[in-house]
Amino acid sequence: TDPAPLRRALLDWFDESGRDLPWRVGPEGGRDPYRVWVAEILLQQTQVVRGRLYYERFLTAFPTVQALAEAPQGAVLKAWEGCGYYARARNLHRAAQTVVASGEFPTTYDGWLALPGVGPYTAAAVSSLAYGEARAVSDGNVRRVLARVLAERQPTDAWVQARADDLLDPLRPAAWNEAVMDLGATVCTPKAPECPRCPLRGWCAAYASGEPASYPAPKRR
Ligand code: ADE
Repeated sequence: TDPAPLRRALLDWFDESGRDLPWRVGPEGGRDPYRVWVAEILLQQTQVVRGRLYYERFLTAFPTVQALAEAPQGAVLKAWEGCGYYARARNLHRAAQTVVASGEFPTTYDGWLALPGVGPYTAAAVSSLAYGEARAVSDGNVRRVLARVLAERQPTDAWVQARADDLLDPLRPAAWNEAVMDLGATVCTPKAPECPRCPLRGWCAAYASGEPASYPAPKRR
């Protein structure tokens, strides 16, 4: 089916109701790569409410990639306190040194992927949000939104990435990615989705089933 009306509905909702977050500085698809990068690394291990505070503290300590690259490792780890997963901070620091040594940020998905600590998720986030590259992010929120729209109980990582790639709006990849994240965080929540205010209700097979919260099924462990 034609994805255009669904894309339009979600982007209209996002233009109206998207969150105002401290790392969303700059034009759509042209945000500050340093800010996006730091935020995405931080948000891998913490929720947005707490992540915001850690983010502000980290950006105050190291406002630019140069400041981060020149800092002693001890100062970087200190600014990371409370965030856990110190390997992420060490990788961020090393990657900042690589960027400064090379004289510029990578400008493509592949370039970002080559940096220490940058995997497919972070490379997709930074290349879309800061450079406008058509790369779909896939995280827990994206997984839940897509599993519900398509009523898939057992979405694999490969399934989520493939569906995210299909649905991504190639004309507004940055807004699209932020829109899916925001929908998953604020409307299409794990336990009590607010379907009456969801812009995707009309396309959502999980909503049509009457049991939206039962998608995706809890992960077996
Ligand atoms: N979670 C991870 N990345 C995010 C982003 N860019 N905006 C909001 N929540 C997020």
